[in-house]
Amino acid sequence: MENYFKRNKIDVIEHLTPIVKTLKKGALITTKSGDEVNTMTISWGKIGIEWNKLIFTAYIRTGRHTHKMLEENGEFTININPEGKVGKILGFCGTKSGSEINKIEAMNLTTVEGNKVSVPAIAELPLTLECKVVYKQLQDRNAISKDYIEQFYPQDVASDYHSANQDFHTMFYGEIVDAYILEKE
Ligand SMILES: Cc1cc2nc3c(=O)[nH]c(=O)nc-3n(C[C@H](O)[C@H](O)[C@H](O)COP(=O)(O)O)c2cc1C
Repeated sequence: MENYFKRNKIDVIEHLTPIVKTLKKGALITTKSGDEVNTMTISWGKIGIEWNKLIFTAYIRTGRHTHKMLEENGEFTININPEGKVGKILGFCGTKSGSEINKIEAMNLTTVEGNKVSVPAIAELPLTLECKVVYKQLQDRNAISKDYIEQFYPQDVASDYHSANQDFHTMFYGEIVDAYILEKE
């Protein structure tokens, strides 16, 4: 049976504190390329203003399947559950790769069609930001402090390792084109 959800619009600025607090513990970034939908856990991200627009910046290591998906379709959704209780989903989606497994099916996640982007939201984490990439850039390894290079980019750890590895991050700047909390009807 299909589920129906209401999109209760939110002012992102007014929700900044719960968004950033929860992001630190984990959120989902979902991507779509062709018919494939993939989601992965993130805990790094920034919300701010550039070009007079509200932007969510995601930091994605170059070897992630999500990175490939974003290169193919520069739209993404961010899903957050400020009430927590989604540790199992975040753990799974933060350790398995969409290059090997369909995480949405494996975790039986509920996808809800995007309003202004081609990528769905994930209802289990109802606070949704719909984003369109307006800028992307690989971080310059020569500009990162030596301490951080050693801590976050161990060059002896292969790309396919789910945590810190040899790959650097691309910053994907997504203009936030819609924001809402999903509510089951
Ligand atoms: C709590 C948590 C936070 C994470 N944050 C990030 C992040 O901000 N950027 C990143 O590239 N990977 C991050 N990861 C790792 C990816 O979620 C993980 O490698 C995932 O399996 C990649 O999925 P994919 O290959 O389907 O894209 C995080 C993992 C966890 C568990």
